[in-house]
Amino acid sequence: MDISIEAFHPICQQAASLEDYPCAVAIEHNVVIYSGDQLRNRLEGGVAGAGAVKAEFAACLKDGPGVFAISGAYTDTSVIDKTTDLFLNIIGDEQAAGVGKGDHFGANERIWNSKQKACERDPALFIDYYSNPVLALACQAWLGPFYQVTAQVNNVKPGSQAQSVHRDYHLGFQSADTVGKFPAHAQVMSQYLTLQGAIAHGDMPLESGPTLFLPFSQQYEPGYIAYRRPEFAAYFDRHKVQVPLKNGDMLFFNPALFHGAGTNAGTRDRLANLLQISSAFGRTMESLNTHAMVTAVYPTLKERQGEGFMTPDEIDNIIAAVADGYAFPTNLDSDPPINGNAPETDQQLMRQALDAKWPLDRLMQALAARADRRCP
Ligand SMILES: [Fe+2]
Repeated sequence: MDISIEAFHPICQQAASLEDYPCAVAIEHNVVIYSGDQLRNRLEGGVAGAGAVKAEFAACLKDGPGVFAISGAYTDTSVIDKTTDLFLNIIGDEQAAGVGKGDHFGANERIWNSKQKACERDPALFIDYYSNPVLALACQAWLGPFYQVTAQVNNVKPGSQAQSVHRDYHLGFQSADTVGKFPAHAQVMSQYLTLQGAIAHGDMPLESGPTLFLPFSQQYEPGYIAYRRPEFAAYFDRHKVQVPLKNGDMLFFNPALFHGAGTNAGTRDRLANLLQISSAFGRTMESLNTHAMVTAVYPTLKERQGEGFMTPDEIDNIIAAVADGYAFPTNLDSDPPINGNAPETDQQLMRQALDAKWPLDRLMQALAARADRRCP
């Protein structure tokens, strides 16, 4: 592989054009900007509307600049504000208990697996937060069905210094030596296994140091090796861009994009819920207790479905957020395929339970029986 700035530079000199993103409202420093209101209007157009947006998101992430933002991703930012309070409570409790250590981003506040913790503490709020249709749209656009959401809260304090440039999971979490042992095609493949996202909890003006990006750099095939070299870090410093975010905005980027958190030169904390969404084909970084999350949300979800308070898509988004959607790996002696090639999944069981109004106990027994079939 040709690892040189001469090969890298033409890739990073590309410019995104709004003409190529008809569902978007603006392009700022090569970051494609969408309006949450407009996306929701398109979704009301049904499958055709969703299909056009998903194709555009995927094109941006793969062959375009690799990063897009959604302004006003929540119609009701009180959902964000209440979730911010929940996160701060969790941080306070973990500090008091002496857990939650090991932040690999310096002296900031961090909640590992903020998703499961939020789910178990306040299932109704979790449902409001993770049923978001534009979040599901972004996940589906890059990863297809059965994606797995993990999340970590990062609260960056004033004075916190910028991260060094990097790429993300998977190969961004391996040493250069290890990366070099993966064949070139597998180094490229790493980016297709995850989607990076962030939900802004509070306004993030530029002085607070929102993430710095080098648009189009995800297209550089040897990038997982190159980003560690000083000449590439210097190039990043000369050409990096950033966009401000408002409370409740979302931002998504290709994990192979060169990026790093900025210095918080402001006077207020910068708090984001960092999403790492994994393909069904990949392994998540964090383990999730999906049965615990199903237990937490099912009673409220069932009640809201019965009262007609949620659309079928919103219910599907929560099933996708809490239950395992993939049939494999399994034990094919004890868990054979019923119809087709794939055994039944937890997501299918949860859908069946909601349709038939099962009590929680019956669903949990069915999930436990399935877990026994998968790994007897
Ligand atoms: Fe990162």
